[in-house]
Amino acid sequence: MALEGWRRRFGDLAARIGLDRLMPGAAGGGNRFYNCARQGARSWWERTDEAVDLIEKAVAGSTDRRPRVLDLGCGDGKVAVELARRGIEVDYVGFDLHPQSAGVRRLDLARDPIGVEGDVAVVLGVLEYLADPASALKSIAAVVPRLVVSLATSDLDRPATFDPASLNWVYFVDRATFEARLFEAGFRIVERRVTPDRKTALWSVERSA
Ligand SMILES: C[S@@+](CC[C@H](N)C(=O)[O-])C[C@H]1O[C@@H](n2cnc3c(N)ncnc32)[C@H](O)[C@@H]1O
Repeated sequence: MALEGWRRRFGDLAARIGLDRLMPGAAGGGNRFYNCARQGARSWWERTDEAVDLIEKAVAGSTDRRPRVLDLGCGDGKVAVELARRGIEVDYVGFDLHPQSAGVRRLDLARDPIGVEGDVAVVLGVLEYLADPASALKSIAAVVPRLVVSLATSDLDRPATFDPASLNWVYFVDRATFEARLFEAGFRIVERRVTPDRKTALWSVERSA
């Protein structure tokens, strides 16, 4: 596992300087370190579906212009696909440490300022890979008033033998612990959900101040 951790850090460093394009597979480092080889799975689409419901509510009433949605750790852009399928018109901007297509902006959510303001951010299946999501949540609160975020948590339906390291996850806490991080970052909870497989929680939150 220690060797795998070093490989991932090396892969992320390669991504920061743009070398991950040389890695095999369409998703490059995302495939290798962030389980993106499974990104077409039904459970990933179900998570997207729940998130897009929450985004739709968050942007309802924005009539003067297209609301801007920042998809942080967007992977293959399922959120954009689902928004388009539902006919929800937004200005979508995707970001990822390992971009899978040319339109996606390279960003390390753990370190980089986001640098773009928006109306709502969405972060799906990403915080599990950050040792401490607190600084990422604060960066997000600086650029958007609303956030839709998912986290696979330890108090949902996983077997007692489940090892988060088997999926390269380094952040695996219960819902109450994560909600405390959301409050510390300045968010208040608007709505809570759980995916149909009962493995992942989602929150729609807004900046409290
Ligand atoms: C499990 S995938 C989820 C992708 C997408 N959100 C979805 O639901 O299909 C995690 C994604 O987060 C990205 N990622 C991991 N660490 C990141 C970081 N520090 N900053 C930005 N993106 C990151 C990975 O490259 C990968 O695309």
